[in-house]
Amino acid sequence: MDVVIRNASLPDGRQGIDLAIEDGRIAAVGAALPLHGAQEIDAAGDLITPPFVDAHFHMDATLSYGLPRVNQSGTLLEGIALWGELKPELSQQALIERALQYCDWAVARGLLAIRSHVDICDDRLLAVEALLEVRRQVAPYIDLQLVAFPQDGLLRSPSALANLKRAVAMGVDVVGGIPHFERTMAEGAESVRILCEFAAGKGLRVDMHCDESDDPLSRHIETLASESNRLGLHGRVAASHLTSMHSMDNYYVSKLLPLIREAGVAAIANPLINITLQGRHDSYPKRRGMTRVPEMLAAGIDVAFGHDCVMDPWYSLGSADMLEVAQMGLHVAQMTSQQGMRACFAAVTETPARILGLSGYGLEVGCHADLVLLDAADPVEAIRLRAARRMVMRRGQVLSEAPRADVRLALPGRPERVNFRLGR
Ligand code: FE2
Repeated sequence: MDVVIRNASLPDGRQGIDLAIEDGRIAAVGAALPLHGAQEIDAAGDLITPPFVDAHFHMDATLSYGLPRVNQSGTLLEGIALWGELKPELSQQALIERALQYCDWAVARGLLAIRSHVDICDDRLLAVEALLEVRRQVAPYIDLQLVAFPQDGLLRSPSALANLKRAVAMGVDVVGGIPHFERTMAEGAESVRILCEFAAGKGLRVDMHCDESDDPLSRHIETLASESNRLGLHGRVAASHLTSMHSMDNYYVSKLLPLIREAGVAAIANPLINITLQGRHDSYPKRRGMTRVPEMLAAGIDVAFGHDCVMDPWYSLGSADMLEVAQMGLHVAQMTSQQGMRACFAAVTETPARILGLSGYGLEVGCHADLVLLDAADPVEAIRLRAARRMVMRRGQVLSEAPRADVRLALPGRPERVNFRLGR
């Protein structure tokens, strides 16, 4: 075998497991495998997981915080206006450099698949060209999926539809949208229909920013689910944000969730961003803004957590850490049961892998040997500690290594030194 990893714990609770790797794929999984690896890695009982997956990101805006100024109000709308100020100043080279820097951070965090929206409303399609180049450059180590995103509105921005079609022709993978930013509810619904028909005709997936507001009467998710049903797009459509659902009438939601389930539409919440951008027009009590995650999971809907933004016009923090995203999602949704916390881990690993349609993802024999070794015993501890990524592997090759969180204390009044692993 090329590599054998010894004594790992797995997310499903199995312990003392060896994984054998050959030709970039998992060749065997089991206790005390009688196989020798050219390279042997001791997991020492720690957790091995398939890589983190971010189902919702904006790589064209990342690491641009402060350019040309910061978002004073903290609202989504000022963020969009600020991005509009920045757009004419963007250079392709700077976009590529920032995106590649982010991808380095991502690898170190064990984040090896990212779905990034790319704004297509600039007629030059500068960001599209830049991120297609980034996708090409990072392909050996990150699966980067691009969504053609009409940030200024499909119908509101005169050239958006033509630009979106150009972007898809250039190789962008997924059709995006932003119905709540169109001028009227009717135009929002019309944009959903146009985009879903275009995607169906091209055999593409759909991922729309949908109902990203605190408006309890925003209804674009209903239209999106209905279009998914009508066009047979089941399993190929994702609705990102859905923050209005936080504020919707409970009876209406009881009717809506079965429709989303029936339509095979997945949901992507973005906990860090939703909790900071939403509720800005409230005094007290302030709404949390994040969509109804446990309720959707209970209804059988796939729900992933995305990072959405890192150091950009909408969000000043972040570092490509999907365990930070899961931790915030867990808190905001109050998913504190063992089952709930494990669901939060799944929301940054296997669920977004399914939404992106990644092939060969997982820990079964035959899957790609894409693995992360965490300084934690299980998924709950990984979230609690935002555990160090001891080792990140892609196709059997180690891409990144980091030390455990080892601590040595020398305390006044205590003669002995205290050595331990932080939080364990
Ligand atoms: Fe977004």
